[in-house]
Amino acid sequence: MTEGIMTKTEENNRKAFEGEAKAHVRIQAFAQQAEKDGYVQIAKLFRAVAEAERVHAMRHLKNLKLVKSTEENLKYSFESETTVNELVYPQMIKDAIEDGDKVSTITFTHARDVEETHAALYKKALDHLMNEVETAYHVCKVCGYISDGEPPDACPVCGAKKEMFYEVK
Ligand code: FE2
Ligand code: FE2
Ligand code: FE2
Repeated sequence: MTEGIMTKTEENNRKAFEGEAKAHVRIQAFAQQAEKDGYVQIAKLFRAVAEAERVHAMRHLKNLKLVKSTEENLKYSFESETTVNELVYPQMIKDAIEDGDKVSTITFTHARDVEETHAALYKKALDHLMNEVETAYHVCKVCGYISDGEPPDACPVCGAKKEMFYEVK
């Protein structure tokens, strides 16, 4: 959607999408905390509500008509990963160093490095769009690095062990 000529409802769909998407992630974190605190049933409730918020987010997103053809979606995703890796995170890393926030410096740095690899994976997928290549993707639970094929002994971005990788089907 191009900026500028948005009806109130289009704008509301955008707000609702962002709110529900955030809620989906935040509530999943609440579920993890509940699990850690030993509240099995409450963790389940949080996970159920998180799923419901995901359903809402998807519906609002659909109204925004931002989901295009797979080729366009890959191009959009490639560009967005490139922007965050080249512009957004580098500035955030600078700010975190200036603020003396060591934890955020590390997590922003990991994210920047990982987004670069996400861009590369999208690029590869675009090249193989007409002729899909089968592979297994394993995601690092710590930093979000994705290994294309077998997971490495140690994550090249954050150093996490192989056991921290899980396969996404
Ligand atoms: Fe909701
Ligand atoms: Fe990414
Ligand atoms: Fe990692």
